Amino acid sequence: MVGTHGYAGSARSDQLLRDVVHSADDAIFAVGRDFTVLAWNPAAEALFGYPAGDIVGHSVDVIIPPDRLADQREMLELIEAGARLERFRTRRRHADGHWIPVALSMSPLRTPDGTLTGYTVIARPVSARERLESSFQALLEAAPDAFVGVGDDGRIVLSNTQAEKLFGLARHGLVGKDVAKLLSLPAVEPAAAPAAAAVAHRYDGSTVPVEVSESILLIDENRIRCVMIRDLTERVRAQERLLLMQAEAERAHVEAQLQRTQRLEGLGQLAGGVAHDFNNLIAVISNYATFIAEAAAADGLDEIAGDAAQITRAAQRGADLTHQLLAFARREVVRPRPLDLNEVVTGIEQMLRRSIGEHITLSVRLEPDLPSVTADPGQLDQVLVNLAVNARDAMPRGGDLTIETSPIEVDLAYASGRPHLHPGHYVRLRVSDTGTGMPPEVIERAFEPFYTTKPAGKGTGLGLATVYGIVTAAGGDLNIYSEPGMGTTFTILLPTTDAEPAVLEPPAEPDPAGRRRGTILAVEDEPALRDVLRRILTTAGHQVLIAADGPAALALAAGHPGRIDVLLTDVVMPHMLGKDLAARFAEIFPGAGVLFMSGYARPVLASQGTLDPDATLVEKPFSKAQLLTAVQQCLDR
Ligand SMILES: Nc1ncnc2c1ncn2[C@@H]1O[C@H](COP(=O)(O)OP(=O)(O)OP(=O)(O)O)[C@@H](O)[C@H]1O
Ligand SMILES: [Mg+2]
Repeated sequence: MVGTHGYAGSARSDQLLRDVVHSADDAIFAVGRDFTVLAWNPAAEALFGYPAGDIVGHSVDVIIPPDRLADQREMLELIEAGARLERFRTRRRHADGHWIPVALSMSPLRTPDGTLTGYTVIARPVSARERLESSFQALLEAAPDAFVGVGDDGRIVLSNTQAEKLFGLARHGLVGKDVAKLLSLPAVEPAAAPAAAAVAHRYDGSTVPVEVSESILLIDENRIRCVMIRDLTERVRAQERLLLMQAEAERAHVEAQLQRTQRLEGLGQLAGGVAHDFNNLIAVISNYATFIAEAAAADGLDEIAGDAAQITRAAQRGADLTHQLLAFARREVVRPRPLDLNEVVTGIEQMLRRSIGEHITLSVRLEPDLPSVTADPGQLDQVLVNLAVNARDAMPRGGDLTIETSPIEVDLAYASGRPHLHPGHYVRLRVSDTGTGMPPEVIERAFEPFYTTKPAGKGTGLGLATVYGIVTAAGGDLNIYSEPGMGTTFTILLPTTDAEPAVLEPPAEPDPAGRRRGTILAVEDEPALRDVLRRILTTAGHQVLIAADGPAALALAAGHPGRIDVLLTDVVMPHMLGKDLAARFAEIFPGAGVLFMSGYARPVLASQGTLDPDATLVEKPFSKAQLLTAVQQCLDR
């Protein structure tokens, strides 16, 4: 090998190499496998402050931070395995104890036959600028979000590891890329939207939802757009999961509501059927008891008369029960009319005060000018009484009972999941107490007939069932808010009507002096009840024709030589319904009175248990006096 500048041959070349190392600006030193320093050039002396004579032959550990001693061993292994360590940033200790930030490049030290004997280090102090840059990079790396700096030409000039991960590109792949190809920003004023929803395009073609915020940084008269990109994948997923969970909870809630409604509906049918049959039986029992009592009294048999009166009283209690059952089953005969709920509350307020007792404070808060609702006022009284009595029972040591009314608008969201409710205008009746409250399992079953938590003999469990039947029959909805120890609030919603509240005339008292007798055609399919009717009416001096159904009644009427004053008919009968019979009968005897009898009229006279307000009706089971009064009114008309 022939060198220039006067060097030639192997020895000279070795000398040349020594001179290169000796005069290099970079600190160069060699370390053996046992980490003793083998060689140390003047630049190393200058950088670390150790003269070669002091350190050669000694451990290199003196210049290494104590916590990095292990790294040193690891690096040797890496170098042995063929790795190259370049511009590795770390710090080393100066002889006077201060730390020097350095960039190290390390390479293996081998004998000519290739045996590894240690490693060589080229150390360069890291400049202030380099240090600034490196802390800037560290800062970028420490940011939780992806970051790219974009030059004026729209190309990326710097980025952090998070950005590489986000876009699926290594740093050298990201630098120089057109940022517009990597990020789709929504078309909005950038100034107006500091953080906008956007999409990042990954190297593999997939997209990631991101939130992008930008700011401008001026470095040495260069403008750099700093773009922070936050990966929203988790947030979007969490939101989706939340929505899914909400939808599921909503569905479960709706399903539970529906099941509860269906269960109550089924119970209603059962209860209604039983109650209807019971009604007829009770009518027979109580009327025969009355016959016995009357006959016994006439013969001076007071003891028998007293016993019969007991039967009548028991039958009356039975009748009350069946009425509640029918109300729950929405089969009770109701006479709904437009009314002002405030008037209903005011009308019954005094009675409620008396029945709840003085240890309970009743507050009534009525919102003036309520829209009208359509309901049977008697039934609403029953609702208020039942709720007030329950509240009283829940506050044995006193408390507050509040009754409130107010208009309310039901929207689609509120109505969904409540099978009885449709969006629209409602009047809200709220009855709240400060009593014991109800646990969830009691709330769940509270509306079921015969469900009670009260001791035997104290409650029948029909109070809330009745309330439920009445409110739903009126097209309304009801809800319990309660927790043990927190009191109970019943919320009832009743649909409003545009009709003005009707003024109810008090029923005219029959004038006993002007008692009229007439011919009455009684139609009843229940044989026992037919006998009862015949006896009551004939005893009162009326002429009686009796038929078991519609066609038989029409035949009787057609063949009757004289006048018939009143048609007294059951509503639901085989072969012909009461109202059809009434229509046909009116063709034969126009102007004659028509009196209906029924335990319920729902399936016939209208849907929803309503009764044509013009139709006169005697409710079963009726007493002798009730029947005779109704007949009298019919004759007097
Ligand atoms: N205001 C209330 N506070 C606490 N619990 C209540 C309240 N209202 C009802 N309950 C609970 O709901 C159950 C059912 O009430 P419901 O009115 O149907 O029957 P009852 O009061 O037990 O008997 P009944 O009313 O037929 O005499 C009650 O037994 C009670 O446990
Ligand atoms: Mg009750």
